[in-house]
Amino acid sequence: MPSIFVLGATGYIGGAVLFTLLNEIPDLRATALIRNDAHIRALSGLGVTCVKGNNQDLELVTELASKADIILNAADADNAALANSALQGCKQRFNATAVKSIYIHTSGLAVLGDKSEGIFDPVAPVHDLWPLTFVFRTVEADKAGYVSAYIISPSSAYGETPSPISRPVLLVGLLIKMSGALKALPYIGDGSNVSPFLHIKDLASAYTLVVKHALSGNDAASGYGKYYIASGTEIAWKEVIKAYGVAFHKKGLLQTSEPCLVSPQQVPVMRLFGANTRGNSGKLKDMGWNPSSPSFFDAVERDVENAINAATTTNFSLK
Ligand SMILES: NC(=O)c1ccc[n+]([C@@H]2O[C@H](COP(=O)([O-])OP(=O)(O)OC[C@H]3O[C@@H](n4cnc5c(N)ncnc54)[C@H](OP(=O)(O)O)[C@@H]3O)[C@@H](O)[C@H]2O)c1
Repeated sequence: MPSIFVLGATGYIGGAVLFTLLNEIPDLRATALIRNDAHIRALSGLGVTCVKGNNQDLELVTELASKADIILNAADADNAALANSALQGCKQRFNATAVKSIYIHTSGLAVLGDKSEGIFDPVAPVHDLWPLTFVFRTVEADKAGYVSAYIISPSSAYGETPSPISRPVLLVGLLIKMSGALKALPYIGDGSNVSPFLHIKDLASAYTLVVKHALSGNDAASGYGKYYIASGTEIAWKEVIKAYGVAFHKKGLLQTSEPCLVSPQQVPVMRLFGANTRGNSGKLKDMGWNPSSPSFFDAVERDVENAINAATTTNFSLK
């Protein structure tokens, strides 16, 4: 009966993955660190043991991590203290029992972005917008021998989560915020830069494959071999915001569905959204992963509706 400890169990990715794992591995015993009482009630109803706390409770994170076969970190890709505390728990467990836990770190495909600033370029080199510290930290932990440490790097996820805790698509929440100031959805260059989009259910099935593979005990790969890219269908940024623009206009968030040209100096985050971010999921596909959920364009309208509804109950606003 394997056990899992989840950081970020109420989040868009963590919630979808936990819900899918509970269905796919019926004897899985799950524990989650949760900071909000309503979420504790919702997840307890699924049979999850909820421990009240937050990502700053590092000793608690270490303690809970030291008791689980699998630690899924889907709370914050860039939180070094949190990742270190979870790995510390794995180390304690190994020192006490000689059993290697499975640690799964959620990263993001954005680390592979280039600096093409809104122009499609199939050969532009990866730009160090983000340091690759997390990749090396996780690989080093695996190499040290006390843990079997995986990284999953998802592309932008979209679509309705299968988790009972509804959560807005990250990008839609950000675009709602940006559109409040700009009165339109922005692009830089000519908006032809591409990045992949993956349905949240397909992302959850990728995590499930990796977890099952890790549990099989047959993974002889090195730490670098435990790095998985969960990519999706490549779409040009301008096509993405045109589709969202129509939905924003329809829902009354914008007076126009037309995108607006801005400069990276004007809107610095557009360096991120103006990148070509390309990644190949060959390893997952070799393991039988077959994304088959509805397309990005089929999900746009519902995702915008969900984000508008979530804005009334979560910490991002429509302004
Ligand atoms: N979504 C994507 O398309 C995508 C793609 C690639 C990479 N990523 C990365 O993956 C990570 C998770 O993304 P997401 O979209 O799933 O985010 P999300 O929906 O905002 O979920 C974040 C989760 O972490 C929890 N959390 C955050 N701060 C916490 C704190 N201080 N104490 C306790 N819990 C805390 C949240 O709990 P509450 O419910 O209490 O807020 C929630 O469960 C992020 O680092 C993101 O950058 C996301």
